[in-house]
This record gives sequence, C-alpha cells and structure tokens, in this order.
Amino acid sequence: MKIHARTERLILRDWTSDDLDDYAAIVADPEVIAHIGDGEPRARSYAVDFLATVTEQQATRGWTRFAVEHAKTGHLMGFCGVDDKIGRLDFGWRYGKEFWGAGYGYEAAAAALWVCQNVFHLTHITSKSYLENVGSIRIIEKMGMVKIGEGAAFGRPLAIYGFKNEWPEGV
Ligand SMILES: CC(C)(COP(=O)(O)OP(=O)(O)OC[C@H]1O[C@@H](n2cnc3c(N)ncnc32)[C@H](O)[C@@H]1OP(=O)(O)O)[C@@H](O)C(=O)NCCC(=O)NCCS
Repeated sequence: MKIHARTERLILRDWTSDDLDDYAAIVADPEVIAHIGDGEPRARSYAVDFLATVTEQQATRGWTRFAVEHAKTGHLMGFCGVDDKIGRLDFGWRYGKEFWGAGYGYEAAAAALWVCQNVFHLTHITSKSYLENVGSIRIIEKMGMVKIGEGAAFGRPLAIYGFKNEWPEGV
C-alpha cells in the first residue's frame, strides 16, 4: 500500500478493501453529505463503487482522491485529492464529522495539492463548492485558489475555483 504524504498528524495513502466499512459510514451520514451533490445520504453500494474507482485509479495513474488516515490512531478519516469525472481536474475532500474543526481539512489539502502538483505534475486543478459550504471555501482560499467561475447543481448555486495564472480567462 502506497503512502503519498505524511504530515504532522495525517497519512495520505492508497485505499485498501479494509476501508469499505469506514467509508460507507462516512457517506451514510446526512451531515457529511449535506453540501455534496443532491445532499442525500449514500447507500453502501455507493461506497463499494467509489472504492472500485479509486482502487483502479491508484493502480493505473496513481493519483486519485487519496485516503486520509489519522496517523496516531490509524483511523480512516475520509479523502482528499483530485478526480476527473466532471471533465476537468476537481480537487475535493470529505471527512467523518468527528474529525471536523481541528485543522485536518487544510492540513490534508495542502499535502495532497503538493503531491498532485509536484509528484503527478497535474495542472489546471479546480475545486468547487456550494456557496453555503463556508468551511470548504475557506480551505480552497487557503490553498491559494480564487473564484474562476460559477455554476449550479441540483438547483443550488456553486462557485468554481482555480489558480489565477492557470485560468486567466476563468472557466
Ligand atoms: C469542509 C470540511 C472538509 C472542513 O474540514 P475541517 O477539517 O473542519 O477544516 P479545517 O479545520 O482545516 O478548517 C479550515 C478553515 O475553514 C474554517 N472552517 C471549517 N469549517 C467551518 C465551518 N463549518 N464554518 C466556518 N468556518 C469553517 C476553519 O475555521 C478554518 O479557517 P481558518 O484557517 O481561517 O481558521 C469538513 O467539514 C467536511 O468534510 N465536510 C463534509 C464534506 C464536504 O462538505 N466536503 C466538501 C464538498 S465541496
């Protein structure tokens, strides 16, 4: 199992089949999913499909939404990293709520961004968030991204962010 980065408190690593139960519990939580897609808690089959996708991506191209593990306890916390299913590189994160509010979100984002840019040489990474997800937007801004576009999904407005030098015309 490959480790992509270690920070003071976190390990960013490849996924294993042992992560399924923990990830299924994270995405079944209505509070975790409230600001994602249609906001509906996800069934276990969603976690099964997700694990299949990230496992394939890490085996073929290496980069994906990395698993984020709490270094001290070994618990799976959630994910942080890049996906391309919307037709551009989309940086995102998702953690169980027992891990919120302790700075882990930004700690993981900074590390994952470094890996994506410097190990996998990804450029034109974007990130998006519903406008009300202020924690997520704060992480995006702390990563140095600025608003490059607007959109909507499921009837909810969202903002799209990127690095200004890579998106001079916006998206
Ligand atoms: C959004 C999420 C990743 C934030 O993770 P986190 O570990 O709590 O974030 P951090 O502790 O690193 O906080 C980063 C910054 O955002 C701020 N912040 C985080 N959550 C916040 C909230 N709910 N309201 C206001 N500010 C918030 C922090 O104060 C901090 O700002 P600062 O550095 O200026 O003090 C986490 O809440 C989560 O997983 N949510 C569910 C999934 C989700 O919404 N994913 C994003 C979809 S776009």
